[in-house]
Amino acid sequence: QMRPWSGPCKTVLSPVCTRDAAGGEPRQVEIGSYPVMGEAESDAALDAAVAAYANGRGAWPTMAVAERIGCMEAFVRRMAQQREGVVKLIMWEIGKSLADSRKEFDRTVEYTQATIEALKDLDNGSSRFVVAEGTIGQIRRTPLGVVLCMGPYNYPLNETFATLIPALLMGNTVVFKPPQYGTLLFQPLLDAFRSAFPPGVINTIYAPGAVVVPRLLASGKVDVLALIGSSKVADHLKKQHPKSHRLRAILGLDAKNAAIVLPDADIELTVKECLLGALSFNGQRCTALKMLIVHRSIADRFLARFTEELGKLKLGMPWESGVGITPLPGLHRTAYMTEALDDARAKGARIVNEGGGAFSQTLFHPAVVYPVAEGMKLYREEQFGPLVPVMPYDDVETALEYVISADHGQQVSIFGSDPARIGALVDPLVNQVCRVNINCQCQRGPDVFPFAGRKDSAEGTLSVTDALRAFSIRSMVAARQ
Ligand code: G3H
Repeated sequence: QMRPWSGPCKTVLSPVCTRDAAGGEPRQVEIGSYPVMGEAESDAALDAAVAAYANGRGAWPTMAVAERIGCMEAFVRRMAQQREGVVKLIMWEIGKSLADSRKEFDRTVEYTQATIEALKDLDNGSSRFVVAEGTIGQIRRTPLGVVLCMGPYNYPLNETFATLIPALLMGNTVVFKPPQYGTLLFQPLLDAFRSAFPPGVINTIYAPGAVVVPRLLASGKVDVLALIGSSKVADHLKKQHPKSHRLRAILGLDAKNAAIVLPDADIELTVKECLLGALSFNGQRCTALKMLIVHRSIADRFLARFTEELGKLKLGMPWESGVGITPLPGLHRTAYMTEALDDARAKGARIVNEGGGAFSQTLFHPAVVYPVAEGMKLYREEQFGPLVPVMPYDDVETALEYVISADHGQQVSIFGSDPARIGALVDPLVNQVCRVNINCQCQRGPDVFPFAGRKDSAEGTLSVTDALRAFSIRSMVAARQ
């Protein structure tokens, strides 16, 4: 429940640079403020979730599934009324284009509706009977407890709700902390939360994550950590739990997805998909293509067409129509891009596209870097921005080895024309990553597909139905016949 706030507030500066009426240098503008909670308030939020769960005896975990679904349907109806307000805040807070901000909102509403529908089918509406060896059992889908949900700044609404919605639907109670960039956009939804769910079922924390979140985990009161964010943060947080082995974790983490471009690839199709894959939302997607591994015999042709198409992307402000590249969320991000480029150049690579790497405030011109090799930052680091490292190869084993020896294992793309050649790569790769894309970019959707990762890239599987499974456990009531 919202409480009156008289404590400190944080002013949010948009990463989007703009000029004021008097002109002058573009600058970041103030777009709002939020209350900054301290340890006492965030502890109270967690305690409210614990009390509402009441060791599984609370009104929410014991509520009939149909009734919980009713609450969620009421929430979605109210959420839909806040579309334009939330969309504008996504755009201003993280610099996502207006068109893509609308897509994020709509996708989230559709995901929520699809998850509601999936719950109606899951185990027969969460309870079904089985008979074996003279025993009759009722299998029930039951909640896990108190879930701490946190999403990333690049999909602040969609990927927070990717865990929050299924966690709630399965009867868990939730504490959620909005991402550092992408905090204000939840404010228009607070009334909808309040009116749709009983007190204590969903609790929002506005506080610096580095200060309060380890403390919440150290309390031992969190049963599930649901984080879509960085692998480093996830490792750190898991260690804070007093019985870390008992903490369930549902995690979507770092990735460095590669595209392997075979010598017989259709260049036009490959360029189109790789451009989308590498630079949609400025390359700020966990699924983005962050390394293009191109057969040396076609590398020049590929680079020429890739840079030509990249040159058509419009750089600008997120509200401009047809804009392809928008500002990054903070000057620290342009600083990282520059550092990675300097490092690659010092070690023998060059920027192959005109204007690549130039920037004004937070608006960064994408750079195609070639040839990228082992030892450069861009070889293994997840750039999460508008840098496109391209590495040539002669023997396909080199490309395979790049994927196999990586610390990450989310997805890979293969581009080629010969089904046998592609097929020979699919089997070794599908055991290294969780999705092999043939002649298309890497991506999470459609949301009914399982979304997972190996190694440092994930724990657990998300999607419409998989997430419902992830946030519940199959309990049984059994009796002799
Ligand atoms: O940032 C990670 C997201 O899961 C990417 O989702 O492939 O739909 O853009 P997407």
